[in-house]
Amino acid sequence: MRVVQEKWFLTTLDNIHLLLWRINFFYLFFGLFLIYLKCSSITGVKIIGHDASVKKGGNITLFCHLTETEDNLTHIVWQKQTRENPKWETFLIIDKYGKTEHKNDLLDKVKFIGNIKEKNGSVQLLGMTLLDDGIYTCIFIFPNGQNQMNINVTVLVPPVGNVTGKTHVSGHLNIILASCVAFNGWPAAKVFWRLGALNDSLRAETSYSEHTDGSVTAVSHILGAPSKNLNQKKIQCVVKHSTLTKELELDYVINVHYPPELVLISPDDPTQTQEYLCSVDCNPTPTSYIWIKVNGSTPRSDSNKLFVPKSSSDFNGVYICTASNQYGSASGVLYVNNTGSTDDCWLLLGLVFSCAVLWISLAYILSSGGKNASCSTLE
Ligand SMILES: *[C@@H]1O[C@H](CO)[C@@H](O)[C@H](O)[C@H]1NC(C)=O
Ligand SMILES: *[C@@H]1O[C@H](CO)[C@@H](O)[C@H](O)[C@H]1NC(C)=O
Ligand SMILES: *[C@@H]1O[C@H](CO)[C@@H](O)[C@H](O)[C@H]1NC(C)=O
Ligand SMILES: *[C@@H]1O[C@H](CO)[C@@H](O)[C@H](O)[C@H]1NC(C)=O
Ligand SMILES: *[C@@H]1O[C@H](CO)[C@@H](O)[C@H](O)[C@H]1NC(C)=O
Ligand SMILES: *[C@@H]1O[C@H](CO)[C@@H](O)[C@H](O)[C@H]1NC(C)=O
Ligand SMILES: *[C@@H]1O[C@H](CO)[C@@H](O)[C@H](O)[C@H]1NC(C)=O
Repeated sequence: MRVVQEKWFLTTLDNIHLLLWRINFFYLFFGLFLIYLKCSSITGVKIIGHDASVKKGGNITLFCHLTETEDNLTHIVWQKQTRENPKWETFLIIDKYGKTEHKNDLLDKVKFIGNIKEKNGSVQLLGMTLLDDGIYTCIFIFPNGQNQMNINVTVLVPPVGNVTGKTHVSGHLNIILASCVAFNGWPAAKVFWRLGALNDSLRAETSYSEHTDGSVTAVSHILGAPSKNLNQKKIQCVVKHSTLTKELELDYVINVHYPPELVLISPDDPTQTQEYLCSVDCNPTPTSYIWIKVNGSTPRSDSNKLFVPKSSSDFNGVYICTASNQYGSASGVLYVNNTGSTDDCWLLLGLVFSCAVLWISLAYILSSGGKNASCSTLE
C-alpha cells in the first residue's frame, strides 16, 4: 500500500524523480524475490536451456523454458554474475502479465522474447562485450516455490595473430629466434609451432598476459642456438581459436648471419682467358673478395672472378681468394700450372698429379710383391 501511495505522490514530480523511483522500485521488487528464493525449489519440473557463446559485439539469445508443470508462474527473474560485476545481480523481472522491469541501464540491451503463459523465459542480449561474459540464471517463480537454471555465456574475442623475429648472428647460446603472438583473444588462443625436422633442436616457451578488458594475449617464443644450419629454414606458427573456422598458419623463415667458412675456387667455363670462380658459404654474401698471387703481382680479377690467361706459363703459381663479410673472412687456394699448349692442360695436370701419387703409393705398398703398377693412360 505504501508503494502505491508513494507512486501517486511521485508521479507529480519531474522525470528524474520518476527515474529514481523506478530504480528504487526495481530494487524493492528484487528484495521481495530474495525472500522468494529462500523457498524450496519445486521438484518434478524441468528447465530446458543451454550454454551459449557469442562473438564480441554480437547478439545472443538465452533460451530458458519450463516444462512438465501445470502451475501458473507469478514471475520470471533473470540474474547474472559477469566480469563487469562479480556479484549476483537481478537485471530483468517479468510478471505474470508479461510486463517487464529492467535494471535501468539495460533497457536497450535486454529484450524479453519469451512468453510467460507458455513458461518460456527466453531473452535476447544485444551488443555483447567481454564484460558481459559470465553466468546467467533464469528463475521461474511460482506461488509456492521457484526453479532455476544457470546458463554459461561466453563472449568470444577473435585473436590477431602475428609472427615476428629478427636476423641473428651465429652463436652457441640459446636465444629467442622468433615470437608468435595471438593478441587480445578470449578465451586465450592456443599458440604452438610446427618445426618439422627442427623439432629436436628448438624449444618453445609460451606465456599469457591479461589485458584490462579481460582479453588475453598469448606469446610463444621459439628458442635455439642460431647455428648456420638454421639459416633459411622454414618454421610455422599455428594459432587456434574457437572463433577461427580453421587454424591460422603463420610461416617464418629463420635468418642467421655467419662469417665465411668454406671457400672453394673452381674453373668457370673455359674461354680464351681462363676464369676461376671463388664460391663462399656465408651470410650475408661477401662484401669483398681479395685475390692475390703468392710471390707475384696482383692478378686480374673482378669481384669473385679471377682471370688467368692460358697462353703463357708466366701466370702459373699459387692464387689465394680471401672473402669477407662483416663477421669475418676465409681464404681458398688455387694452383695454376699451365703448359700453354693444350686446352685441357689444367685438368690434365691434375690427372697427372693424382696418377703419380697413385703410382708411387702402389709401388710402395706392392714393393715386396715385386709387381709394377703403371699409369697406362699416360705416356
Ligand atoms: C543485434 O540486434 C540489433 C537490434 O535487433 C540489430 O540492429 C543488430 O544488427 C544486431 N547485430 C548483429 C551482429 O546481428
Ligand atoms: C492458470 O491460469 C489459468 C488462467 O489464468 C487458469 O485457468 C488455471 O486454472 C491456472 N492453473 C493453475 C494450476 O492454477
Ligand atoms: C521460446 O521463445 C523463443 C523466442 O520467441 C523461441 O525461439 C523458442 O522456440 C521458444 N521456446 C519454446 C520451447 O517454445
Ligand atoms: C559453467 O560455469 C561454471 C562456473 O564457471 C562451471 O563450473 C561449469 O563447469 C560451466 N559449465 C559448462 C557446461 O561449461
Ligand atoms: C606483425 O607485427 C609487425 C611488427 O609489429 C607489423 O609490422 C606487421 O604488420 C604485423 N603483421 C600483421 C599481419 O599484423
Ligand atoms: C616436438 O614434437 C613433439 C611430438 O610431436 C611435441 O610434443 C613437441 O611439443 C614438439 N616440440 C616443439 C618445440 O614444438
Ligand atoms: C715465395 O717466395 C719465397 C721466398 O722467396 C719462397 O720461399 C716460397 O717458396 C715462394 N712461394 C711460392 C709458392 O712460390
